[in-house]
Amino acid sequence: METLVVDHPLVAHKLTVLRDANTDSPTFRRLADELVTLLAYEATRHVRVSEVTVRTPVAPAGGVRLAHPYPLVVPILRAGLGMLDGMTRLLPTAEVGFLGMIRNESTLQAETYATRLPDDLSGRQVYVVDPMLATGGTLAAAVEFLFERGAEDVTALCLLAAPEGIAHMDRVFAGSGRPIRLVTAALDERLNEHGYIVPGLGDAGDRLYG
Ligand code: PRP
Repeated sequence: METLVVDHPLVAHKLTVLRDANTDSPTFRRLADELVTLLAYEATRHVRVSEVTVRTPVAPAGGVRLAHPYPLVVPILRAGLGMLDGMTRLLPTAEVGFLGMIRNESTLQAETYATRLPDDLSGRQVYVVDPMLATGGTLAAAVEFLFERGAEDVTALCLLAAPEGIAHMDRVFAGSGRPIRLVTAALDERLNEHGYIVPGLGDAGDRLYG
């Protein structure tokens, strides 16, 4: 998996406030929304465009527009919902599909409880949004699901990632031949014995939605 840790003082500033246990839910939601827009700038670097010509008031000008089929944005419920608006603000023509997944806190295995996606994702570029990449079980299951439906490439936007999660993704998709990218605001130290990212920011779903 191609991983980009966005190194930018504004991202670092917002992430620091997000991590702070004293940050309340309304502020947490606003910061998550702002951060995803900053990550999306990098994450969409490979978005497909086609060349077009427009007429300015002065002369024809060559340019580009997003190519069809438009990208698909997939928030992983529940915490990923906190990143959806920031993403669609930047990609207003994107289609949105939903994956409901929860990590069983005893086994740390991901379980899927809802899917609402187009059946055929052939040729589609997909952007998965989920604040946390911890063991990687959730993201791996999501990406497998998207590839089974024909997605051409998948880019995950996560606020935080753990080295264990990245290693898991690399193991599962070694030799898959299809591009998988991760754009994250930080690569943290490790997981603790409960599978929480250290230092992390706690449970993103709880901090967003209580
Ligand atoms: C969190 C997070 C990811 C997953 C990461 O969701 O938003 O989806 O855990 O863990 P993993 O990399 O070890 O699989 P959670 O299961 O807490 O559900 P929620 O979004 O409904 O709170």
